[in-house]
Amino acid sequence: MKVLVTGGAGYIGSTTAKALEDAGHTPVILDSLLSGPRVFVRDRIFYEGDIADRGLLTRIMEEHPDIECTIHMAARIVVPESVEQPYEYYRDNVTKSLELFDQLVALGKPRVLFSSSASLYAMVEDFEVTEESPLAPTSPYARTKLVMEMALTDMAAATDLRAVILRYFNPIGSDPDLESGIYVREPSHVLGQLVMAAQGQKDAFTITGTEHPTRDGTGIRDYIHVWDLAQAHVVAVERFDDVLTTVDAPSTIVNVGTGHGVTVRELVTAFEKVFGSEVPVREAPPRPGDAVGAFANVDKARDVLGWTSSLTIEDAIGSALQWAKRRKAVLGYE
Ligand SMILES: NC(=O)c1ccc[n+]([C@@H]2O[C@H](COP(=O)([O-])OP(=O)(O)OC[C@H]3O[C@@H](n4cnc5c(N)ncnc54)[C@H](O)[C@@H]3O)[C@@H](O)[C@H]2O)c1
Repeated sequence: MKVLVTGGAGYIGSTTAKALEDAGHTPVILDSLLSGPRVFVRDRIFYEGDIADRGLLTRIMEEHPDIECTIHMAARIVVPESVEQPYEYYRDNVTKSLELFDQLVALGKPRVLFSSSASLYAMVEDFEVTEESPLAPTSPYARTKLVMEMALTDMAAATDLRAVILRYFNPIGSDPDLESGIYVREPSHVLGQLVMAAQGQKDAFTITGTEHPTRDGTGIRDYIHVWDLAQAHVVAVERFDDVLTTVDAPSTIVNVGTGHGVTVRELVTAFEKVFGSEVPVREAPPRPGDAVGAFANVDKARDVLGWTSSLTIEDAIGSALQWAKRRKAVLGYE
C-alpha cells in the first residue's frame, strides 16, 4: 500500500515511514523541513513543500494515484513556543490542515489518520483516561489539536472524509536500526534531560514538581516506545476501513499508549537500571503550566484498532541511550 505521510521528516513521521517500509508498504513523504532534518528523508519518495499547497498535493496524487491513505503528522509541536506564537500555531496546525483535508477530499483521497495528543486530557483522579474522559487542553498547541479533532469529526460527518484520530501519549526511543530519533539540540522533555544529565552534558537532572497528587509526588506519564507507536500506524492504515466499520461511524478517536503510568521518580529508577549507574538528581517546583499527567486506557486500541504495545520502558530507555550515542553520526551535531 502507498501512504502519504505529512511531517515524514520529523521524529515520529520518519520512524513511522520506516515501520511502513518494514511491513511492505511505500511511504510518500510531504514535509516542508520546517523542523525535521533532510537526512531523515533519506532515499524515500520525498516532496519538499507545504501541506496547504493544493497544487503540490494534486501533483503528488497524479504521480502516485495508488496512495490509499494519508497520515497527517505535520505540525508545529513546541508547547512554550505556542504560548509565544499562537498565530503561527493556529495558522500551521489548524488553517493549513483544513486546506489539506479539503484538498484530499477533492482529490478523492478521503482516508486520514491524524496525530493528536494526550495533552488534551483534563486531570482525573486515578490518572487513567479513556477516549471519553474530560478534556482541558492547557496550551495553544494542545488547543490546535482539539480544534482539528473537532474539524475532522465534523468534516467526516458531512463529506467523504474518513478519519482515525490517534491520541499519542509520550513517545520515547528510536527505531531498532537507529536511523532516526530525537533531533532537537537540547530536548526539553524528561527523557532527553535524563540522557543529557547521564552523559555529563548537564550537571544534574531536575525533577520539576514533587508535590503532585501522585503516588510519589512527581508527574505521571505513559511513555510509549516510538517503534510501538509506529506499529500502531501500520495497523491503523491496514485496517482503516474495518476500524470505522467496527465503530459504525465516519471518524473515531483512539488512545495510543501502553496503559501504564510511570512517575518521574520511577522513570529515573528505570533509567539508572538501564544506564548502569546513578544520575545526579535535583528537585524544583513545577514549571508554569506543567501537567500532573495521565496514562492511557488502551481497551479501544486493543478492541477496535487491534493493536497493543509490546516493548517495555527499559527497551525504550535503552533505545534512547543508543540513539544518543549515534545521533552525531546521523545528524552531524551532539
Ligand atoms: N512528539 C510527541 O511527544 C508528540 C506527542 C503527541 C502528538 N504528537 C504529534 O505527532 C506529530 C509528529 O510529531 P513529531 O514529534 O514527530 O514532531 P516533528 O516536529 O519532529 O515533526 C513534524 C514535522 O512536520 C513538518 N512540518 C511542520 N509544518 C509543516 C507544514 N506546514 N508543511 C509540511 N511539513 C510541515 C516539520 O518540518 C517536521 O518534520 C505532530 O502532529 C505532533 O503534534 C507528538
